[in-house]
Amino acid sequence: MTDEGKYVLHTWTRQSDWSGPTVVGGQGAWFWDADGRRYLDLSSQAECCNLGHQHPAVVRAIREQASSLCYVSNNWGATPRRDLARRIVSIANGRCATGGSQAQEEAAGTAEQGHASPDRQAGFGRVFFTCDGAEATENAIKMARWYTGRHKILSRYRSYHGATHAAMKAGGDARGWNTADGLTGVVHLLPPYCFRCPFGLHYPTCSIRCAAHVEDVVLFEGPHTVAAIIAEPAAGTNGIMPPVEYWPRLREICDRHDILLIADEVMSGFGRCGDWFAWQRLRAKPDMFTMAKGLTGAHIPLGAVCVSTRVAAYFDDHLLETGLTYSGHPLACAAGVAAIQAYEDERLIQRAQELGAWMLGRLHELQARRGIIADVRGLGLFAVLEMDDSDKGSPMPPFPRPLPWLKQLVRTALERGVSVAARGNLLIVCPPLVIDQAELDSGLSVIEDLL
Ligand SMILES: Cc1ncc(COP(=O)(O)O)c(C=O)c1O
Repeated sequence: MTDEGKYVLHTWTRQSDWSGPTVVGGQGAWFWDADGRRYLDLSSQAECCNLGHQHPAVVRAIREQASSLCYVSNNWGATPRRDLARRIVSIANGRCATGGSQAQEEAAGTAEQGHASPDRQAGFGRVFFTCDGAEATENAIKMARWYTGRHKILSRYRSYHGATHAAMKAGGDARGWNTADGLTGVVHLLPPYCFRCPFGLHYPTCSIRCAAHVEDVVLFEGPHTVAAIIAEPAAGTNGIMPPVEYWPRLREICDRHDILLIADEVMSGFGRCGDWFAWQRLRAKPDMFTMAKGLTGAHIPLGAVCVSTRVAAYFDDHLLETGLTYSGHPLACAAGVAAIQAYEDERLIQRAQELGAWMLGRLHELQARRGIIADVRGLGLFAVLEMDDSDKGSPMPPFPRPLPWLKQLVRTALERGVSVAARGNLLIVCPPLVIDQAELDSGLSVIEDLL
């Protein structure tokens, strides 16, 4: 056992509870510790190692970039920064991330900017780089406020947007309870949580009441005061999977009231939900979206906000009053370029859709055999098993309620070589996109056994 716990404050834990094995290596969906024990990764660590561990092309790109240029500030250009932004914009605009010359890309971008008025349908224009997901949330909110000249931000209960003061306030879960209010003007919405519908309704006869509720709140708050709605389109550590109609309904509401829609794709992006971004799968374009985690497959910390052409154009003649020393760090951006190339070369986005469909079927079979599983939901290679923790008839618990036996299950699974994540009464299954079907099946068999 290492003495790391003596020196490091580890995240999200009482320090005396921490006892992690020291990990020294990994490959694909596997990683191993200093004692040579191997673990199959069914959570992609913190839902971020979408490309598995030590993806060779990403590691090579980092090494090559390090040998030429590690860092240069934003006063100077950096080729990987420019390349990564261009690829993100390409993907967001529905074009192949790597195909097309710069001239073709620019022509397509100009056409997109020109074809709609007031250009709600226009494409994405530019990318602001951050170091992580929370900073992406913070900067998306800043930009939305400057652009609209409005102050209020609508977000949902049972959501998470990062752990900085403002991002914590923008989120809506118990992790923010004991953090001082770091952002004024946030109004929380009830979540689209079909399994325990806050409106007591049932899908699909509910007419998506949770979306109508959003418009009610907009009207009560005064649409002219609302800058943006920020939400995870699908997935997230609260395990919320809205009905498919919900996200396009948010788009319509935002259009009606000239409010910006911000998609938090930090967890759901880069193939996790079976498309590059979940909003693409759900077929409604936001005005901005944030990303991190899968952007480099967690090989190097990096986050970003991609903004529509009209938001981007605003900053042509307005000061962008924000900055970070490491915005667009060349090493991180080189990792991002290589990661996107790897998603494409290995067809991992499509694979997440196909393998995800198989995984969801497998988990539904598991539910049929294990009565303790109350609900199974998911999209792509992100799934949640919600355990039955209810005293039937009791009020809806505000947030996932910790289940000691589920924590124990996670520990025992680790002893059997399977790493899986639990949060409250949710077991979260989101393996690296590169995992083999047979490996995934064997990992799920261990979980089934333990359940
Ligand atoms: C949806 C979502 N947004 C934002 C964040 C914050 O990202 P980071 O931890 O990189 O700051 C997370 C982290 O888990 C997340 O899941």
